[in-house]
Amino acid sequence: MEVKILDLSRQYALIQEKVEQAVCEQMKSGMYIGGKAVADFEKKFAEYIGVKHAISVNSGTDSLVIALRALGIGEGDEVITTPFTFFATAETIAMVGAVPVFVDVEEDTYNIDPDKIEEKITNKTKAILPVHIFGQPANMERIMQIADKHGLAVVEDACQAVGAKIAEQKVGSMGNAGCFSFFPTKNLGAFGDGGMITTNDDTLAVICRAYKEHGMAQNGAKARFILQGVEDDLADTVSPDGLYNPYKYYNYLIAHNSRLDAIQARVLDIKLDYLDDFNAKRAEIASYYNSELSVCADVVTPKVTDGVTPVWHQYAFRCGKKDAMGNFLAQKGVGSAAFYPVPLHLQKAFTYLGYQEGDLPVAEMLTKQTVCLPIFPELTKEELQYVTENVKAFFEG
Ligand SMILES: Cc1ncc(COP(=O)(O)O)c(C=O)c1O
Repeated sequence: MEVKILDLSRQYALIQEKVEQAVCEQMKSGMYIGGKAVADFEKKFAEYIGVKHAISVNSGTDSLVIALRALGIGEGDEVITTPFTFFATAETIAMVGAVPVFVDVEEDTYNIDPDKIEEKITNKTKAILPVHIFGQPANMERIMQIADKHGLAVVEDACQAVGAKIAEQKVGSMGNAGCFSFFPTKNLGAFGDGGMITTNDDTLAVICRAYKEHGMAQNGAKARFILQGVEDDLADTVSPDGLYNPYKYYNYLIAHNSRLDAIQARVLDIKLDYLDDFNAKRAEIASYYNSELSVCADVVTPKVTDGVTPVWHQYAFRCGKKDAMGNFLAQKGVGSAAFYPVPLHLQKAFTYLGYQEGDLPVAEMLTKQTVCLPIFPELTKEELQYVTENVKAFFEG
């Protein structure tokens, strides 16, 4: 038997009819960028997360860059984040000219350790950027308390955690901004790149909209007024039917081109209807793995914090013989992955920050021990049994 780490073709088969109809309709419409499809999906996503605004962008990476810039974070600022995450989390901090300051993680949840944040706050610190890693919410209650106490912004990297909740509140609705990725492998994946910024802050939403599209037209003018106090009277300049905008090619800020394609918005709109069911199936798989693998002596199964609902983007467990396990599983036809093999503070790209091995011991330990098993809603019972049998066989053999 072969069990891939992820097989997106199965999900496609389930939604094929609806998606093909919607995509063909969109292609025939001649509207490929922006328009109703994108606006409808933004509205639906904002309602799903429980926020006032959802601003679609081209990727999760862009959602972070634009949210950070919109919060005024740039040259000379420091942003506190986790070293146990995908590179883009800290890369984007550096891209806006700020300095990523890494804080070690909790052994149980793999998320940033709130107890270690305050010691890293300086007079240059402007924000905290927690990641809800593998789909499990970070400790937002503590993080928001620390941020409030020190007057810091909070940007949630929710790229792996769409639909995850703390009590009944979805992640991406707690900080100043939430950032989401629709990379195809994510729990809500497009058929290409895509991302979203969520916020309850009207001002931030205007600035994000301006930054995502060349700082142009009405949003650009409003954002320049907010950021620089320079007024431009563009009220009521769009024709009543909304079709003619004489200010479309007036640009007010140096910004980005980061848009979600209309075809991707149609695909995501359809998939959002399935997301809660898909996430529930992932939770069933995780609980199966937990019960089967907890009997293995050298395995530490993932812990879920009380009161949170994770969405199991990855099922990551710890084991002393990570690479030997990966090789063994590969020989048996079972896909696995080592997220993440290098903590960000030790990535070559961040050498200039001057971190040494041993600086963040928990994250370093996790990168040496974490193994991720196949977890996607369409996995069959037989495949799950085959995966767990082989993990157990590795320890017995
Ligand atoms: C935690 C995290 N942050 C940021 C990103 C960047 O998202 P994207 O690949 O859509 O740019 C990803 C996804 O790859 C991610 O997992």
